[in-house]
Amino acid sequence: MKPSGSSDFDTRLADFLSATESRSGEAIAAELGCSRTAVWKHIEALRNLGIAVDAVAGRGYRLQEPLELLSEGRIREALDPEAEAGLHEIIVRNTVDSTNDWLQSREPGEQAGVAVFAERQTAGRGRRGQSWVSPFARNIYLSLGWSFESGVGGLGCLPLLLALSACDALDRAGLKDHTVKWPNDLRHDRRKLGGCLVEVQGDVGGPCLAVLGVGINVRMPESVAGSIDQPWKDVAAELPGVSRNSLAGYLLNAVITNLDRFAREGFMPFMAHWERRDELAGAEVELSGPAGLMRGIARGISERGGLLLQSGGNVQEYLSGEAHFVRKGILD
Ligand code: BTN
Repeated sequence: MKPSGSSDFDTRLADFLSATESRSGEAIAAELGCSRTAVWKHIEALRNLGIAVDAVAGRGYRLQEPLELLSEGRIREALDPEAEAGLHEIIVRNTVDSTNDWLQSREPGEQAGVAVFAERQTAGRGRRGQSWVSPFARNIYLSLGWSFESGVGGLGCLPLLLALSACDALDRAGLKDHTVKWPNDLRHDRRKLGGCLVEVQGDVGGPCLAVLGVGINVRMPESVAGSIDQPWKDVAAELPGVSRNSLAGYLLNAVITNLDRFAREGFMPFMAHWERRDELAGAEVELSGPAGLMRGIARGISERGGLLLQSGGNVQEYLSGEAHFVRKGILD
């Protein structure tokens, strides 16, 4: 057993521990069918995963704060019938490298309509080759496989659609004033709350298979805060009682409803929604992309999901790149 790793046993142990009552080593060993030495080693493993476990003299072990593990049943409780009908499978994994990679390693015929959540990612991926900090049992890491009749060319707005869907889910959880930053950042108070990573395989003329990855910071532990290389925020800072399982269900509802509508009507109906959330609109922006560095005033998005930048009297569409605010001459 590797104490720094994470096993299904650790998940069962984390589930069995409570934040209100202490559980003795003996009771844990009996419940989980192992020796007391093994219990001690697995408690250490949980601590290494960032779960604070107190040892109470003469009484046993107790979590410092309540822990909500993901469960398929609890996610399904939050599902609307439309999402339920659109889903083939919901999978909850303990540890994966990256949920996007995990789903893509399946046969193509076993990806569409499959939602995979993980408690932890060891190699979570962000956009542009960046890593996505993914501690155990704190946040949401979801990948959903979806098939499209249309070709790759018409799917450039999927990251934006996914970000808007995450906004809908956060609305339903009770969050206020969250924004999107082109193309696919979720933000609150000008800090990053989550992001999306869409990977599409298929032909120019279709059909295509997309893996839609979303990460949302729900309850980020301070212990990993130092490894995040940009200003960030978590949902619990605004909604301390937020449930990961409910939010996971709301996310599936929103993504599936929006994907269905997108398949019927394209991205046009979502433009007004983007405008309401668009944090860049009207701001001076620097865009670094394939064409180099561009500066201009952000003027919303095109129907293809491109960023519209105004420079002088000209408005130009950019389909990819990284946008930064220019504030008082400083990039943010
Ligand atoms: C970004 O803003 O850079 C995109 C972050 C995307 C993170 C999610 S977490 C679930 C899925 N699996 C991954 O490896 N990445 C995405």
